[in-house]
Formats: sequence, structure tokens, C-alpha cells
Amino acid sequence: MVKRILSYLLPIKIYQRKSSISKKLEVTWNKGQLVLDSENTNYSYGSLERILRKGLLYIGFDRIKKFENVLVLGVAGGSVIKTLTQEVKFKGKITGVEIDETAVEIAKKFFELDQIPNLNLVVDDAFEFVLKTKEKYDLIIIDVFQDTKMPNFLFEDFFINRVNFLLQVNGFILFNTMVLSFTDKKRNATYKTKFNDNYSVRLYPKVETHNELFTIKKLA
Ligand SMILES: C[S@@+](CC[C@H](N)C(=O)[O-])C[C@H]1O[C@@H](n2cnc3c(N)ncnc32)[C@H](O)[C@@H]1O
Repeated sequence: MVKRILSYLLPIKIYQRKSSISKKLEVTWNKGQLVLDSENTNYSYGSLERILRKGLLYIGFDRIKKFENVLVLGVAGGSVIKTLTQEVKFKGKITGVEIDETAVEIAKKFFELDQIPNLNLVVDDAFEFVLKTKEKYDLIIIDVFQDTKMPNFLFEDFFINRVNFLLQVNGFILFNTMVLSFTDKKRNATYKTKFNDNYSVRLYPKVETHNELFTIKKLA
């Protein structure tokens, strides 16, 4: 409690682990809130939480509430899962896929993700998981980062086509990207062109300083 109050003056780090995926994972009290950071960026419950909440608002909480099956690729501390369960009051099934076992341990220990009854947490590579799964989803949240880097597979046709196949008609993809250079900006512009008329693609620029969000609706 004292640390939480003091954190309004200065961030207080309470836990740190090395991570092969994210270099470092740090749990910190920051302005009264417990957040998870990698070496160079916020992962959960800070700006990242605000970004994905905006994405869910763009899609519409009321619409999401009626969905049955949600897939979250990239879980870290699970802030978007908390937004879904606590704010949207989503009662359907959530599958969270996270490659880093250390992140999953932290999510359970500090952010109580194991207390969410409608969440199935899977330790796996997002790419491998989407190849294997037999289910279809109403909402697929793609939030996969290795510190500030986004793996290339996210922007490749094979992954895009597979995710599109897993999406129900009238379902949405919410894709969080980081734009740090002109190359990243071009990469996102190219990504937008990969969807045909069966999809409605919206790009929300500058959601926070370096983030661009895509919402993609499957029309047919
Ligand atoms: C920004 S964090 C996710 C934050 C989370 N969506 C939230 O709402 O709090 C990015 C996560 O992607 C994970 N990640 C990186 N590469 C991955 C991969 N190939 N498959 C699954 N997860 C991956 C990282 O370990 C990290 O935990």
C-alpha cells in the first residue's frame, strides 16, 4: 500500500526477470497502478491498456458483449483481458496465447489472470497456434511484440490469410502496431492493401505517440 502511494511521486519497481523474448520484464508501481514493462516499452496496464481500450471502443462494447469467442495473441500482463472481462463485461470464451512462460507466471502472480473463469491461457507461439486451432473467433486481438519489435510473420500473407480464415463473418480483428520509422509507416500502408472488398479496414493513426491501430471487419 505504501509503495502504491509513493508511486505517485516516483515509479517503484517491485519485480524484475530476464526474458529471452523481451530482454527484461519489470513489474512497477506507477502513479498508483501496477504495470508491466519490457526493457524499452510498456507492455500492460499503462499506455498499452489505454490503446487497446480505445480499439475495443471503436468496435463497440455492446457489440463485443454479444460475441462468443475471443482470441488474444500476446497476453503479457493481460490488460486487454481485464478490460474485456471487467469493463466490457464479456462473458464468452477468451483464449490468450503467450509465447513467454515468464510473462504468464507474472500475469498470474501479480495480475491474477488465473482468477478469470472464462480465460484459457495457452503458452505457445501465436503463429503456431493459429495454424493448429480448429475454432473460429468473433474477435481476434493481435498484440505481439518482442520489446519494441514486431515479428515479421504478422505482416506476411500466410499469417494474414490464416487469421482471416479463423474470423467469423461480422467478426473483427484488432491489430496494435508500433510505428517508429518511415519503414514502419510504409509497412502499415502495405498491410492495409492486403485486404479485399470482403473486409472493412480502418487505420487509427497516433493512438498514442508511436501506435497505430487497425480494426478489420469481415463483411462476407
Ligand atoms: C504488448 S505485450 C501484450 C500486452 C497484452 N495484450 C495486454 O493487453 O496487456 C506483447 C506480448 O507479445 C508476446 N509475444 C511476442 N512474440 C510472440 C509470439 N510469437 N507469440 C505469442 N506471443 C508473443 C510477448 O512475450 C509479450 O508478452
